[in-house]
Amino acid sequence: MSIKAFLFDLDGVIVDTAIYHYQAWKRLANELGFDISEEFNEGLKGVSRMESLDLILAHGGLTLSEEKKTELATQKNQWYLELVSRMTSDDILPGVATFFSQVRKAGLQTALGSVSKNAPMILERIGMTNAFDAIIDGTKISKGKPDPEVFTKGAAELGVSPVECVVFEDAVAGVEAGKRGGMFVVGLGSPDVLTQADLVSPSLDILTVDEVLAKASV
Ligand code: BG6
Ligand code: MG
Repeated sequence: MSIKAFLFDLDGVIVDTAIYHYQAWKRLANELGFDISEEFNEGLKGVSRMESLDLILAHGGLTLSEEKKTELATQKNQWYLELVSRMTSDDILPGVATFFSQVRKAGLQTALGSVSKNAPMILERIGMTNAFDAIIDGTKISKGKPDPEVFTKGAAELGVSPVECVVFEDAVAGVEAGKRGGMFVVGLGSPDVLTQADLVSPSLDILTVDEVLAKASV
């Protein structure tokens, strides 16, 4: 099967916003009287805003009303927006620009597959809106990762089938979403964490499009 499209997660793959999501959630947990570790945060990556909040509250042993939860999620998002407000194209992760030029030369299509409702704003800030042929974000899906919806919608919008797609993900939930969608998944991070990925690399910086295509096309 030949590969026709690359589908990219945003936070932690294109730009290092994963750290800002963690800082904002940690601040919220601290205000509620407990802490969240980096290890716990691995389970939040790729997970929607409200589902992340539910996991954090369960971790702290708290049960709150829907009204209070909406208030806390809004507060976290405000802190997150403050952290990302100074971001520019300088914050694009190493290797992304080179990798995208190889993607275009190879004639592949691209889609963004992010459950973040802030994704379009982040893409504008870093000047990468036009790098994607399709953009699926948190406002266009009903189920977050690890459900495959965000990636299957991206494939559908590009007019390709899931087996013709490669997904790039830094999150355990995102890797699972790509696999459940029937796609080849490149995990960006540690092989000890991203155990379900077909191929793992610490960063896009040391990967080439040819290498990915060779591994995904067999
Ligand atoms: C994902 C992040 O991309 O988006 C998660 O990995 C985040 O950490 C999720 O919770 C939802 O983001 P937002 O911007 O809609 O709160
Ligand atoms: Mg991510």
